[in-house]
Amino acid sequence: MSSADRAAGSDTSAAPAPVPASPIQAVPLFDISRQHAELAAEISAALVAVCDSGKFVLGPDVVQLEATMQRLTGAKHAVACASGSDALLLALMAYDIGPGDEVICPSYTFFATASAVTRLGATPVFVDIEPDTCNLDVSQVSRRVTSMTRAIIPVHLYGQCADMQPIVDMARLHGLAVIEDACQAIGAGYRGKQAGAIGDIGCFSYYPTKNLGAYGDAGMLTTNDDKLADKLRLLRGHGMQPRYYHKLVGINSRLDSLQAAVLNVKLPHLERWTKARRTRAERYTQEFTKRGLSQFMRLPTVRGDRKHVWNQYVVHVAGGKRDALRAFLADRKIGTEVYYPVPLHQQECYSYLGYGAGSLPYTEAAAAETVALPIFPELRDDEQQRVIDAITEFFVGAIPPSEEKKATLAGPNFLKARDGVRSEQQR
Ligand SMILES: Cc1ncc(COP(=O)(O)O)c(C=O)c1O
Repeated sequence: MSSADRAAGSDTSAAPAPVPASPIQAVPLFDISRQHAELAAEISAALVAVCDSGKFVLGPDVVQLEATMQRLTGAKHAVACASGSDALLLALMAYDIGPGDEVICPSYTFFATASAVTRLGATPVFVDIEPDTCNLDVSQVSRRVTSMTRAIIPVHLYGQCADMQPIVDMARLHGLAVIEDACQAIGAGYRGKQAGAIGDIGCFSYYPTKNLGAYGDAGMLTTNDDKLADKLRLLRGHGMQPRYYHKLVGINSRLDSLQAAVLNVKLPHLERWTKARRTRAERYTQEFTKRGLSQFMRLPTVRGDRKHVWNQYVVHVAGGKRDALRAFLADRKIGTEVYYPVPLHQQECYSYLGYGAGSLPYTEAAAAETVALPIFPELRDDEQQRVIDAITEFFVGAIPPSEEKKATLAGPNFLKARDGVRSEQQR
């Protein structure tokens, strides 16, 4: 047969050319480019306007952002700064916290919550979390208050407020400051109040992965206290007032106008994005429950008196299977993350504090069991379906399409029955 015949497809005896396998579409944990695409023209115009104005630092865009954050949180003052980490540092500096002082905070949080304390020479006192919400366990806090305690930093982890009322009550009783780490919780609510306006100072991050993300680093402080607000403004700008006269030793944590301009364009969309996150969270919870998967993994708990803003949707997978599930999903190009794999009391840099293994049992269990699933607002329905189906496959085996409807109608027991006959290897 000539090559021309082969090219014409007339060689019926030859093996069929391999059909290229359709590539698996990745489901990212987070994809910031989709949000940018939606607002690209508006953001470019806002950035050009800042460049044209020449007001690059603490310009009118920053003032506008502060005013919007005041309205959003209901706090009397909002003071912009360079990052969430700086917000925490500045909040502690506003209380003159330093050597000899102790600050109570969770160990199950991002590093910045505690590093702000140690950067000032004070000591973080780590307290365990509630096993279901992963937020500070208030009942543990009172036991750790000493004559050296100056402040408590509750963290609103994953977008749900910590149980603030008893924390504030206890702080008032002992004369302690309450600094809310609301870095993951913009727009979150607690008994009719907004995150950042419940304690004495609220700290926000606009890191790109947050619910309201800048195009770099940016942060915000909120407070109802006039004197604290003045001090925070001074501290973020080298304690300088007027120019070249320094009342206090502050830091340089001024916010770039370019970041504020991006955030001002995005802010009107925040509530819609939060709703989209909530819809995705509810779908995960409904589908996992319907498919009987809540017997294999603990789903997120939402307290009735809170508005959760779902910065993360985090499940707990016990029995040492969390990492196997992550590997299974990674094979299917589904992104996940662990927030956080090593609690702060077990970090090398805090070994001098002497917390032994088992000292914060719920925190240590969370580090071994939690995994965050894709939940960003632009996640498509078909992508979320792939995540749900892959997790179902991991725990109970693939559901044949013909049985999918039955599973939906029969609910968890259907899958329990299937689960009873699957081999251990399928897990
Ligand atoms: C709980 C928590 N605290 C503090 C921070 C620090 O914020 P930033 O990254 O803006 O410095 C973050 C951000 O990752 C956070 O999640």
